[in-house]
Amino acid sequence: MTPWEVHGVIDYSKLIERFGTQPIQAPLLERVRRLAGEVHPMLARGVFYSHRDFNWILDEYEKGNKFVLYTGRGPSSGIHLGHMLPWLLTKWMQDRFRAKLYFQITDDEKFLFKDFESLEEAQKIAYDNILDIIAMGFDPKLTRIFLDTEYIRHMYPVAIRVAKHITFSTTRAVFGFEHSNNIGEIFYTSMQAVPCFLESIEQGKNVPCIIPCGIDQDPHFRIARDVAPLLGYYKPALLHSKLLPSLQGFGAKMSSSQPETVIFAADSEKEARRKIGEALTGGRTSVEEQRRLGGNPDICVVYANYQYIFEPDEDHLKAVYDTCRSGARLCGECKVELADKVVAFLKRHQANRERAREHVEEFMLRD
Ligand code: TYM
Repeated sequence: MTPWEVHGVIDYSKLIERFGTQPIQAPLLERVRRLAGEVHPMLARGVFYSHRDFNWILDEYEKGNKFVLYTGRGPSSGIHLGHMLPWLLTKWMQDRFRAKLYFQITDDEKFLFKDFESLEEAQKIAYDNILDIIAMGFDPKLTRIFLDTEYIRHMYPVAIRVAKHITFSTTRAVFGFEHSNNIGEIFYTSMQAVPCFLESIEQGKNVPCIIPCGIDQDPHFRIARDVAPLLGYYKPALLHSKLLPSLQGFGAKMSSSQPETVIFAADSEKEARRKIGEALTGGRTSVEEQRRLGGNPDICVVYANYQYIFEPDEDHLKAVYDTCRSGARLCGECKVELADKVVAFLKRHQANRERAREHVEEFMLRD
């Protein structure tokens, strides 16, 4: 796994070991409940399953040192449900802790990593994605969105200070770069490190920062955490989510490179229902067999969608699981129930997105 490619079924506990992160466990969740008043289902269910220094973030919070949130988007295409997954938790964190959020849009990354021939194209998609980001419901008073190529006067002096502490050997070891990679790709991770420090720079004193993101982004922040103390900053903390699987199974993450296996934020009701209808389940080959032997929700991407995003109610989620196992629930009806939830979510999102057009400038951070 790199931030740009994920192959095969992901062994999440192995990633905790390999990356050297901490699992999110019961005592930490109890702390969250005490401080936030509730635990978000994605935390309670282990969708957000791993962290770095979240305990420290809460220690500081209890001492009265508020943290800032930081997350981002590489604008390569339309937004899909996988991207929205970490943003749902980010919004919950913002609401519950009244935290400021830095939202980085890496048009430079998407240009450099060859998603686009022209930089202008990446910038155009960036502004289209920003509508979806605003539609998530972030608080305009507490949210700052910026494009790397536009906010560069603020970012570049920080990026080069970071870059000076990263050798080519390190980026090659972390990201697997080769001689054919362009030098922008090699430099890029310094840009993704910058927002970890923006609030500290603004306030002129160190401010804790926590980054909710998919686990695929962790390699960037391993480097940022090594560099931070060398520049006199706190190390950024992290909350890592599992990756929402493709509709065609756990062998791939939901990714725009295969549009048929992805629910996009802009999908029509008809498209969303069709794609869910064609999703891979843990069902048997015939109705008779399923009634007799039951299905397997543990390998079912329809169930994964209930669990990751669409069924906040713990009792109903358990009922979906149990009735699948027992054979009482069939895949067809289960897909229709999920599709109803997804379509309601998309309709709400699309209406918010239309309203967002009027509000872009309230969110933008500019040089
Ligand atoms: P990008 O645009 O690839 O993805 C945006 C966010 O969505 C997460 N993600 C997923 N989460 C769950 N399931 C999936 N199938 C899935 N696919 C993508 C990513 O982990 C990410 O959190 N380089 C970054 C942009 C960025 C960033 C950041 C992301 C800049 N600064 C700080 C997170 C935090 C990128 O291209 O993300």
